[in-house]
Amino acid sequence: MMEIHQFRCTGCSAIIAPEALAGNFRCPDCRDLYEVFYPGWHGQRHTRPNPSALRWLWRERRTSLAAADRSGVWRFREMLSILRDDAGIVTLGEGNTPLYDLPRAAQRLGLARLSAKHQGMNPTGSFKDTGMTAALSVARERGFTWVACASTGNTSAAMAAYAARAGMRSLVLLPQGKIAWGKLAQAMDYGALTLQLRTDFDGCVRVLAEVVQRAPVYLLNSVNPYRIEGQKTPALEIAEQMEWEVPDHLIVPGGNLANSSALGKGFLEMQHLGLTTRVPKISVVQAEGANPLVRSLQEFGGERIEPVEAHTRASAIRIGNPASWRKAVRVLHQTGGFVEQVSEAEIALAKAEIGAEGIGCEPASAVTLAGLKKLLEQGKIARDESVVLVLTGHTLKDPDYTIHFHRGDLLTKEESGPVSSQIDSLRRNTIELDADADQVLRELERVNQ
Ligand code: F0G
Repeated sequence: MMEIHQFRCTGCSAIIAPEALAGNFRCPDCRDLYEVFYPGWHGQRHTRPNPSALRWLWRERRTSLAAADRSGVWRFREMLSILRDDAGIVTLGEGNTPLYDLPRAAQRLGLARLSAKHQGMNPTGSFKDTGMTAALSVARERGFTWVACASTGNTSAAMAAYAARAGMRSLVLLPQGKIAWGKLAQAMDYGALTLQLRTDFDGCVRVLAEVVQRAPVYLLNSVNPYRIEGQKTPALEIAEQMEWEVPDHLIVPGGNLANSSALGKGFLEMQHLGLTTRVPKISVVQAEGANPLVRSLQEFGGERIEPVEAHTRASAIRIGNPASWRKAVRVLHQTGGFVEQVSEAEIALAKAEIGAEGIGCEPASAVTLAGLKKLLEQGKIARDESVVLVLTGHTLKDPDYTIHFHRGDLLTKEESGPVSSQIDSLRRNTIELDADADQVLRELERVNQ
C-alpha cells in the first residue's frame, strides 16, 4: 500500500504533507482541524480508482483468510492509503457489522424501510474500533510507544485493546464517576494506565492537550484525522449492504461530533469516486442536556459554538465542548441533514424499544430512534423514505442504566411525564422466587393472562 495522502485544513483549506502535521492535529494558522486528502482522486479521471473494480475487490476480500482482508476497515484500504506498509496493520477483525431491520419500530412509525447499522457489534463493543485500528496502526508505524486519549469510555476501551494487541502502552484520562462500568472495566482489562480525573470529559481533554505537549505520547482522540479515515468505512459497508444504493436518511448520535463527520466523509467520497450516485441526508441527534451543536445552529447559524455544562445519563455523549463541531456543521450543510435534541425519557424509551427488537444498544445510541420520531413528526423525514440509524455502542456497555430502567428508578416522574405509559409497557423487572416450580408456573400464568 502506498502512502499517498496529504492533509487539508477544514478551516483555511491549506494543504500540508503528513510529516508537517502538528501533534495536536490543528492548523498553526487558523487552529482548525485537518482531514486526510487524497490528491490522486482530484486529478484526471484516469488517476481515480475504478468503481466496479473496487466493488468486486472489496467483496472478494471477504472470502480471503488474510487478517487485513477480513477486517471491515482494511478491506476498503484503497479508500484509506495512510500506512507505508500493510504489514503494520493492527487489527482485531473490526467492522463488517450487521445492518438489521427494525420491523416493530418501522410499523409503529409507519415507515417502509428502517434499519440499524450496529457498530456495537465491533470487537470492543463500539464504533470506535474502526477508527482505532487506523490511527493506532499509524502510531505504531511512526514508532510511538505510548498512545493516549481522554474519553467518555468507549474510545478508551478501544484504544487500550488495540494498544495491547500492538504491544504498546496506553494512557486513559476519564471523568471520575461519569463513565459506564463496562467501559472502565475494559480499559483496565486491556492493561491501560487508567486515570480518573476529578473533572468532566471536557476537562480531561484540556489536561491531555497539555500532557501531549510535554511527553512523547501520540494523541488518539477523534481530532486525530486518521481516526476519521477508519470511522468513515461503515458508510462503505452500508452502501455495500444496500447493493450500492444509499438510504435517504442516516441518523447519528452527536457527542464530540467526529462520527457524523466521518460518515459524511465516507458517503461524499463514495459519490465523488462514482461508487454511488448520491448521499444520504445525515442528521445528528444530541441529548437535551448536552446540546451545544443544536444551540450553535439555532442561535448562531452554525457559525460559532458556545460550550455548555453537559448533563445526561447517556454518559457517552455527555460532552459540552465538542472538538469536531465545524466538521459536523459542514456535513449537515453538504448533505441537507438536520439537527435534533431529545429528552432523557425519550432516550430511555427508544433504548427499550431497540432492546425489544432483540438488538439492544447503549443509551447514547438510542438518541437516533428518539430523534427519528421527532423528525417524522416535523415532516423532515417522509414515511416512504428509507432510514438507517447508526447504533454506536453495545447494550452491555452500560447494564446499570438498563437495570435501573426496568426497575423503574432510572427517571423521575417529571422526566418520564408524557411517555410514562409507553415506558411502563416496556419495563420487564426481574422477580425473585423460591426454588419452586409452582411459583414459576404461577408467574407464567399471571403474565399470560
Ligand atoms: N455513541 C457512543 C456510544 C459514543 O461512545 C460516542 C462518543 C458517541 C456516540 C458520539 O460520537 O463523539 O463522534 O460525536 N464517545 C467518545 C468516547 C467521546 O470517548 O468514547 P462522537
